Order: sequence, then structure tokens, then C-alpha cells
Amino acid sequence: MKKQLKICPAIFPMPVILIATYNEDGTIDVMNAAWGCAYDLHQIQLNISESHRTTKNIRRTGCFTVTVATADHIAEADYVGLVSGDKVKDKFKRTGLKAHKSDLIDAPILDDFPICMECKDIEFQGEYGVLGEIVRLSVDEEFVDDKGNVDLAKMRVISYDPFNHGYYVVGEKVGQAFKDGRKYIK
Ligand SMILES: Cc1cc2nc3c(=O)[nH]c(=O)nc-3n(C[C@H](O)[C@H](O)[C@H](O)COP(=O)(O)O)c2cc1C
Repeated sequence: MKKQLKICPAIFPMPVILIATYNEDGTIDVMNAAWGCAYDLHQIQLNISESHRTTKNIRRTGCFTVTVATADHIAEADYVGLVSGDKVKDKFKRTGLKAHKSDLIDAPILDDFPICMECKDIEFQGEYGVLGEIVRLSVDEEFVDDKGNVDLAKMRVISYDPFNHGYYVVGEKVGQAFKDGRKYIK
């Protein structure tokens, strides 16, 4: 028997996406977003409120970078989801995180997280949707083998739990997509 619960978007895991942008004065803003996903093979979809500093920055610069948070920096990732760059002027500085400017787009790249997607050609959709074209994907080389395979277990990426608001490490590989189900194809 299943038990009925209060409705929430019970799709687990949800990502812990960190969106990095430049403020008007050149300082960095980063926010945490769990409501985001791959839109197609080249685009990221964020679902972010119009009121966020991040959204205003994206409207102004037309760019953002995206990474996924890892277990090494849980407090920093959570903090950037708790306060707005509109209210805390040194929001990013307080985290002690490091970043450098992309040479491709007008957005910062976070040095402390292993994945970076640099996005531009932004399209705003409806109340919350922000689509960005990924113009470069880069991953710290310590997590990539000679064949280009990425070791997600070693990275210790975290996910967000919509039931209890926990953060969980994503790690154990239990199958292979587009392969394991083939045994049912006659
Ligand atoms: C776990 C977590 C997930 C969040 N997911 C989203 C989200 O998907 N969309 C959104 O608009 N805000 C989300 N937030 C809230 C923003 O991160 C938060 O309002 C932040 O202060 C916005 O920062 P900014 O104003 O500097 O851009 C989330 C916060 C946390 C802690």
C-alpha cells in the first residue's frame, strides 16, 4: 500500500545547480537552483524567479555559467540559495570561493567545482523559464579519462531531495542506459 503525502515535485534526485553571473559593478553573483534540467542536447533550462539578482544579471549580460555542486562545498552551495546578491553586496566574497572570467562569454567560471557549462543566446519562457545555449562544456581533468569518460562517483556531485530538503551524494553506478533494457527487445 502506498501512503498519500502532501504534493511536491517528488522527482528525485533534483540537481543542485549553481548559476554564476556578473553584477553591474563587475562583482560575482551565484545562486542555487534545484528547478533546472537539460532542455535538449545543447540547451539548459533554468526555472528561476524574475525577482532574483541572477535573473536581472542574465537579462543584462545575456550570459551565465552553470555547474553542479559537490559534497566538498555543501555549505557554500546552500548559502548562495539563502541570501540574495541584491541584499548582501559581498555575497560571493563571503563564501571564500574562487572564480575567473570566461574568455568566451560575459560570465564567471567557478574554480572550486569540476564541471562548467558556459551559456549564452538566452531565451526567456513564461514566468520562470530561462533557456541558455551551452557554448562550451569543460570538466576538471582529474575526473576525465583518456577516452573522455567522466567519473561522477569520484566527483561526489550532490542532489536535492524535494521531500525533506536534504542534500545527497550521487555516486554508485548500478546500470548502463540504452543497454540494460535491450534484453527485452526481441
Ligand atoms: C536548495 C535550493 C534550491 C533552490 N532552487 C531554486 C530554483 O530552482 N529557482 C529559484 O528561482 N530559486 C531557487 N532557490 C532560491 C534562490 O537560490 C535564492 O532565492 C537566492 O537567494 C537567489 O539569489 P540572487 O538574488 O543573488 O540571484 C533555491 C534555493 C535553495 C537553497
